[in-house]
Amino acid sequence: MHYLDNSATTKPFKEVIELMGRVMEHTYANPASLHGLGFKAEKIVENARHLIAKELNAIPSEIVFTSGGTEANNLAIQGVAKAYQNRGRHIITTKIEHDSVYEVFRDLEKQGYSVTYLSVNESGEISLEELQASLTDKTILVSIMHVNNETGSIQSLEEIGQLLSSFPKLFFHVDAVQSFAKLPIDVNKMKIDLLSLSAHKFHGPKGIGALYLKKNKLIQPLLIGGGQEQGFRSGTLAVPLIVGMGKALEIASNNRDVFYQQAKYWKKDLLFVLSNLNGIVLNGAKGVPYILNFSCPGIKSEVLVRALEEKRLYVSSKSACSSKKETPSRVLLAMGKKRTEAISGIRISMGMLTTLQDIEACSQAISNVIPTLQQWIKV
Ligand SMILES: Cc1ncc(COP(=O)(O)O)c(C=O)c1O
Repeated sequence: MHYLDNSATTKPFKEVIELMGRVMEHTYANPASLHGLGFKAEKIVENARHLIAKELNAIPSEIVFTSGGTEANNLAIQGVAKAYQNRGRHIITTKIEHDSVYEVFRDLEKQGYSVTYLSVNESGEISLEELQASLTDKTILVSIMHVNNETGSIQSLEEIGQLLSSFPKLFFHVDAVQSFAKLPIDVNKMKIDLLSLSAHKFHGPKGIGALYLKKNKLIQPLLIGGGQEQGFRSGTLAVPLIVGMGKALEIASNNRDVFYQQAKYWKKDLLFVLSNLNGIVLNGAKGVPYILNFSCPGIKSEVLVRALEEKRLYVSSKSACSSKKETPSRVLLAMGKKRTEAISGIRISMGMLTTLQDIEACSQAISNVIPTLQQWIKV
C-alpha cells in the first residue's frame, strides 16, 4: 500500500501512539485537579504547550488547545468578528481558504459583515496591492492561509504581516494547518495575531490542535463552561491527545530539514514523470515540495483516484472534506483553471513517513493508468 494523501491526514508516529497509550493508562487525572496525579497531568500538558510555543517563537500562555484546525479557525474568526463588531464589520480573506475558514466568512457575510475575498494568481498567490487596496478603517480581521491544502501554494506571511502592521487595530489570522511543523514560522517576525494548527497533519493524533493568540489580545470564546485555557476554550483538556501532539512536533521538527530536501527531489521526479505524459496540466507547481497537484482534463478526479487505488496508490482529488462533492475545485477555479481542469484535479501529498518505494510506485501507477484512461475516453 502506498499512501500519498498526507495533506488529508498523516499516519501517527509509532512513538506518539505508544506515549498516548501510556498516558491514558497512567496519567488519566484531570489536569485541573489539585492532587498529585492532576499535577502530573498538568505538567505533561504544559510541556507540550511549551514545545508548540517554542516552534512559533511564542510564549506558552499564548497557546490555546482546541479540538483541531477547524475549531481553531472558527474560534479565531468568529472570536474576532463577534468581539470587535462595534469597531467595524469589514473582514478580509482569500478565495482559496479551507472550508473551515471560507464557510465561516460566508456565514458572517449572511450575518451582515462585509467580506472581501482576495483573488489569487495562477500560482495561487494573493497580491499585496489588492490586499492593501481592500483595507479600510472598518477592517477588523484579515485571515490568510500559509500553505494551501490542495495545491501547496505558499503566501508570503512576512510581507503580509509587515503590510498589516500599519493597521494596529486589525487582527491578522493565519491558517497554518498545512505548514506548521514543516516550514519555519515566527509569529513575531511575521506579525501574526492568531494562528491555527492541527496535530493530525504532522503525524500526531486526530481531534487536537491549537490556536496561537497573541498576548493581551482578547477574542470572544465559542464555548462557555469551566473557563479552561484562560477562558478562551472551556472543556477538560484532552491530555493524551495534547501530549501526543507535543511528541509528534518533537519528532517532526527533528526530521523537518531532511524531509523538506527529500520531498523536493521526489516532487521533481514526479513532475518529470508527469511531463512525459500527454494532456497533463500542472496546478501551482511552485508551492511546497510535499504537495503536488495536477489535472488530467477529460478524466474526472474521482475516476482517476479509484483507478490509482486499484494499483494500491492512495491519493486525493481535492480537500478531503469536500472530495465527496462532485463539484469543480473552488481553489483551482480561483487560480484561473478551466472547468474541465478544476473537476479533474489530483493531489499527491507526501509526509515524513513517505518512502522512495511510495514515490516509485506512484510514478509507475500514474504512467500506466493515465494513458490507459485517456485511450478509453478516445474510443
Ligand atoms: C488548510 C486547512 N485548514 C484547516 C483544516 C481543518 O483541520 P482539522 O481537520 O484539524 O479540523 C484542514 C484539514 O484538512 C486544512 O487542510
